[in-house]
Amino acid sequence: MDDLKKKRDFFELNLKLEIKFNFRKVYGNDNPVHLEIGSGRGEFLLHKSVQHPDVNFLAIELKEKRIKTIIRQLDTKINKNVRVARLFVDEKITDYIPEESFQMIYIIHPDPWPKRKHHKNRLIQHCFIDVLWRIMKPGGFIEISTDHKEYANWIVQHFRERKDFESVYDKGFTKNPEEEHIETFFEKKKREEGFEPFFMKYRKV
Ligand SMILES: C[S@@+](CC[C@H](N)C(=O)[O-])C[C@H]1O[C@@H](n2cnc3c(N)ncnc32)[C@H](O)[C@@H]1O
Repeated sequence: MDDLKKKRDFFELNLKLEIKFNFRKVYGNDNPVHLEIGSGRGEFLLHKSVQHPDVNFLAIELKEKRIKTIIRQLDTKINKNVRVARLFVDEKITDYIPEESFQMIYIIHPDPWPKRKHHKNRLIQHCFIDVLWRIMKPGGFIEISTDHKEYANWIVQHFRERKDFESVYDKGFTKNPEEEHIETFFEKKKREEGFEPFFMKYRKV
């Protein structure tokens, strides 16, 4: 069996077969679980899982090529608190994920879908925020970042319209990353092109 196959067997979950996702069975403990949606090449996941060995991480990414890139870099001893799943995340995620599962949710540089006619494809929509609320633990946090100013405004406005989340930042966003900040591939690329990220953080009320 080649190395990638062995690693896939260890790290990869088929969420559609997990009805419903049993964290204790998967991770072998009751540690808090953090979810990352749209992990890309996995920089955030790789660093975060080492910074926080007492947290379990679930990374969901749509693209097969990126799943392979992530899994290749993972180590079954160093990153044993990580699992990844290939899935297009949408409202149906509640079919596999129990309510009140996650202490933290990270959505780092989600696709901005800049054209107006494509705004309906944006991940951040009220119906999706409803779902995020359901799968988060009470008092849990969501962190979202984007370099796209108009999408940042869209996100800030959507969360302002809700009573079930409160913003950690007075203005609804900050340009200053938190101390433990991990720069992802996409953030680096966009900074080099002159686009600085906006950071949003919300607490489930
Ligand atoms: C702009 S990239 C950012 C990747 C990474 N977070 C970073 O900052 O470098 C967006 C990523 O989200 C993934 N993605 C987009 N929509 C998704 C969805 N609905 N479910 C899961 N992954 C998604 C894409 O395949 C892509 O890897």
